[in-house]
Formats: sequence, C-alpha cells, structure tokens
Amino acid sequence: MVLTRRDLLAGATASMTGGGALRAQDAPRLSLTAAAARSRRRFGAAVRPEHLAAERPFREAVLRDCGSITPEIHLKWDALEPTRGERRHGPADELTAFAGRNALALRGHALIWERSTPAWALSAMAREGWPVVAGHFEQTLGRYGAACGVWDVVNEPIDVRAPGGLHRTAFLDAFGPGYIARALHAAHALAPAARLSINDYGFDYENEEEQARRKALLGLVSSLKREGAPLHVVGLQAHLDLSKGPLKPAPLARFLAQLADLGVEIEITELDVKESRLTAPIEARDAAVAAETRRYLEVALDQPAVVSVTTWGLTDRHSWLPALGGRMQGGEAVATTPEGYNRGLPYDALWRPKPMYQALHQSLAASPLARA
Ligand code: XIL
Repeated sequence: MVLTRRDLLAGATASMTGGGALRAQDAPRLSLTAAAARSRRRFGAAVRPEHLAAERPFREAVLRDCGSITPEIHLKWDALEPTRGERRHGPADELTAFAGRNALALRGHALIWERSTPAWALSAMAREGWPVVAGHFEQTLGRYGAACGVWDVVNEPIDVRAPGGLHRTAFLDAFGPGYIARALHAAHALAPAARLSINDYGFDYENEEEQARRKALLGLVSSLKREGAPLHVVGLQAHLDLSKGPLKPAPLARFLAQLADLGVEIEITELDVKESRLTAPIEARDAAVAAETRRYLEVALDQPAVVSVTTWGLTDRHSWLPALGGRMQGGEAVATTPEGYNRGLPYDALWRPKPMYQALHQSLAASPLARA
C-alpha cells in the first residue's frame, strides 16, 4: 500500500502539550509541515530514494513532516553523469515521482558544486570551456527543471581566505568570477519558472571567519542583483556547531535583515547540529542540540524573508555528521549504538522524536508570518 500524507494525518486530533517532553506516541499526531504552514512557511528534509524505498518509518516521517524534499545526493552532477555521456537518472527519477505522487515540493540541489563535479568534467571544462557546463545544465534542467520550484545553481561559492572572496574552483579558474552570474542566466533560460539560488554555509557564529563570510555573501548578492542576474533566493545551510556556539541572536538577526533588504528570499537549507560532546549523557546532549536549534529558529523565523526550513536528513541514522567511534559508509556516519550517532537531527536512529523535533515544532508553530 502506498501511504499518502492524508492517510497519516487522518484522525489527528491531539496537539502537543506545552513545553513538556514529547512522547513517542505523540509523534504521528504532529507534523512539522503543518506547524510551518501556520506562518506560510515550508518545512522539508534532504532524502535519499534508497532510504525511502527500504524504510517504512522513513517514508512515514517524510509524508508526515515534510512539505518539500531535497535530494541529498542524486541531483548532483557526479551522481547524474559519473562518466561522460553516461547519464544515470534512476534515483533522481524515483525521487521526483515520489514527490509528484505525494504533492511534495522539490529543491533542486545543486547544479554547480566543485565537490560534486565529476573528475572528467573538471578537466573537460578547463580544455573545452563553457559548453561542458552548458551541456550539464541542458540535460539536468531539461529533465528536472520544471519539477523543482527552486534550484541551488551555485553551491558554496564563498571562501574568504581566497583572493576575491570566492572559492578557488575549476569553475572560477576556467570562467573567472563571472561564472556565477553566467550560471544563473543559463539556468533561468532553461527553467524560467524556477526560483534560483546560491547556497552556502558558515554565516551563523561570531568568529572572525563567519563574520567575514557574511560580509562576502552580502557583497556577492548585492553585486549579482545590481547586474540584474536572476537570483531569487539565498540558501543558508545552517550546519550549526555546538563547539562554536551558543549563537548570538542580535548579529544574526541583523545579517538576515541585511540579506532580506537586498531583495532575495532566504531559505534555511541544511539545518543540523554538530555536537561537541558525544560522550555526555544523552539527555544533556539532546537538550543542547534542541536549545541551539531553538536559538537559531527564533531569530530566523522572526525574519519575514525566511520562507522555508529544511533539515539535512530527518534521522540520526542517516546523518552525514560524525558518529562516535563510527565509520563513514556511502556518505553516512554509521555508529554501532544509538548513542554513538551525532544526535543533530529531529529523530534518533530508532525513529524516536527528540527534543530537537519539539524545538522545531514549537518554533515553527509560534513564528510570525513569512512575507506573502
Ligand atoms: C553531503 C551529503 O550529505 C553526503 O552524503 C555526501 O557525501 C556529500 O554531500 N553541503 C551541501 C550538501 O551542500 O550537498 C552536502 O551533502 C553537505 C554539505
């Protein structure tokens, strides 16, 4: 049987009580997407089709909690075209079909990201120039352009240690700093209805590097807008990190307001929390993760230009964040015990909602309206 969101929400009557502990049996009655909708926002998560296919609790949680999904891996260039001319569409097709069947929005992630560019393309673009990138855009947007309401056109362009503030990549080397505007124009021509985004990390904390990164992002967005590039959204990854926290609300709020003033929508695209004390008692760990999530969302959701929140996965079981004594397997940090995982996502490795879930639900449900 194929479960739809309607099946899961049918009969839901109880709502969460106050600030008390979230009981496992309450979880199916709550929904992060319903909480987000109260302020005209969207909630979503990064997913992989193999998890959706193999794990019923995963499917159920996505249908219950998400109004949107982001392919964690399968729309990246190296997943779509690992070898030149051999396109692999299976997993991305599965995800678009799943989203279509269940009326979920899709975030297209990501057309240009140096780290997910196949080796053949890195060298081909140096020799052959823009047609290599154009071919990738034509194929990818030709097939999936209309399925995704928003596309991360350039992922992680900023590096404040590099001259000019842009990450030294094969794209920068081959095309100069104009590659970002060029990519936006090319994506706009092929997917005219999509909202186009640049997406990056490291704007959250009050250290020198992140302060410089904020400034660099504001400069980049303002020059792209001035040049008339089709840039509609800025994605803030928001990979929070307890070793850098706690977050300071006032400067973060100021940064979001400055970004909004440049005329872009803001999406929180990859929220999760990297722990700093994996060996502390579970309750303390979960409380610290939830508190940092709440601190971030209280500021972010107070900004009307923030229109969506996406977590980078739903369950610690498939987190890309390091596990205690764990090993990396296919891009996931696999631990041997539930405590061993990094606990920075809403559900634990056994699909029990954690205080982070509650923090998300309460923050989303209580926030002022996003701008229409
Ligand atoms: C990560 C995935 O989660 C991993 O499984 C994969 O191996 C590498 O990419 N910033 C991004 C995401 O924009 O695409 C990254 O996702 C995490 C950091």
